[in-house]
Amino acid sequence: MDNSRAQWGSKLGFILAAAGSAIGLGNIWKFPGRAYEGGGGTFVLIYLCMVIFFGVPLMLTELSMGRASQANVVGCFHKLGHKGWSWVGWVGVLGAFIITCYYSHVGGWVLRYVYSYAFEAPEVYGDPLGYFYATLGLAADETTHFPWVAILFAALFMLCNAVVIIRGVEGGIEKFNKIGMPALFLILVILLVRAVTLPGAEEGLKYMLSFDWSKVSFTTVLSALGQAFYSLSIGMAILITYGSYLPRTENLHKNTVLICTMDTLVAILAGFIIVPAVFATLGADHVGKGGGFAFVSLAGVFEQMPGGRLFGVLFYLLLLFAALTSCISLIESIVAFLTEHFNWKRTATTIGVCTVMFLIGCLYTCSQAAYPLKGFWIDAAGGVSFPAFCDAMEYLTDRLMIPFCALGCCLFAGWVWKPESAIREIEQSGVRFGMKKTYAVIIRYIAPLAIITILGMSIFGGITLS
Ligand code: PHE
Repeated sequence: MDNSRAQWGSKLGFILAAAGSAIGLGNIWKFPGRAYEGGGGTFVLIYLCMVIFFGVPLMLTELSMGRASQANVVGCFHKLGHKGWSWVGWVGVLGAFIITCYYSHVGGWVLRYVYSYAFEAPEVYGDPLGYFYATLGLAADETTHFPWVAILFAALFMLCNAVVIIRGVEGGIEKFNKIGMPALFLILVILLVRAVTLPGAEEGLKYMLSFDWSKVSFTTVLSALGQAFYSLSIGMAILITYGSYLPRTENLHKNTVLICTMDTLVAILAGFIIVPAVFATLGADHVGKGGGFAFVSLAGVFEQMPGGRLFGVLFYLLLLFAALTSCISLIESIVAFLTEHFNWKRTATTIGVCTVMFLIGCLYTCSQAAYPLKGFWIDAAGGVSFPAFCDAMEYLTDRLMIPFCALGCCLFAGWVWKPESAIREIEQSGVRFGMKKTYAVIIRYIAPLAIITILGMSIFGGITLS
């Protein structure tokens, strides 16, 4: 083993960092909307099955590949003796790079909204959509201005990430997660108590616990699977990097189950906060997902809620911690690759990469509302199209790169490196892994088939993965 490589200082540090990577914007603003659309309890149940049958085995695979190789996402394939598969790692690094460009900017908007609720709540309540657009560079009369406020906050957000990454794995990432994650859980519980005690919240709670199979289709199942991948940070090869900092004595299986449980718990709790809160204040039809919902519709919820301003600040703080800990993992996997592959220095690499990603991200923010910057997309359903630049970035990562990298990992672990090698790695800690056969069947056959279906549907059927 290469002794000069960084390692986690403690088991708890690793678990919190990996859970921090997984728990992100996907859990808090995407999951509740998807759960609502998918019929509440029905979707939650399907989602749980996806996490158990696909999430756990795939996370276990990425972590064992990382720990076995003790290398970054590309180096991992070299070290395991199959250089020809390093394209999987390249897709992972590139995907992480593109996601960070926009994730960091959305993180900046979230930071801006912490400030907004603390100091400008009446303005937000007065015209939530106008306020959001003005932040992104579009005035109420549709005149364009440079969205410098959003960009300034994105720069601040990126700076926080860079500071943590420069401090290293144990001194930066682990330390930050040890504060950020407990804070996140605390805020989550406070918000949950507030939401479920609102008059009228029972309807939303009932909905989240009800089973309406008429709302379920094949697409619902695929969307639950895509959501599970995105939410667990699978398919970006990030867990390969985080696994590579783990000592051999760690029980990979137990840790994986714990991380998946924490991530799923947060997603479900977020569902039990947002859905009842929207039912109680604005009414059932207003539950949504994505940026418009998180920044615009929720304003009405906080406006009507007793103590709404304080809970607004807390909610955006929750999002901020979630976004920071996920973004840190994305940047770390890029920096780990660049420093190891090209022998670059950590500080200079971090500053360089963060600057480039921040600059590309500016195009993302500009194209949201203010500037008509276009991207390029091609799919069998719609042919060639020129979506907004921001949408093209998300299509590229969510619809193509994440499933592609996840498929590469499955095929590699299932057919090239072989499940026996992964199992040997999993059992390094001395604890027997009791699900060997099931694991091998999922990794070799079921998961690749499911991912190919997702890829097919997103290329030919126009569904979104995330
Ligand atoms: N899992 C994160 C979320 O739920 C997003 C993410 C995806 C982070 C891929 C890292 C890698 O928001």
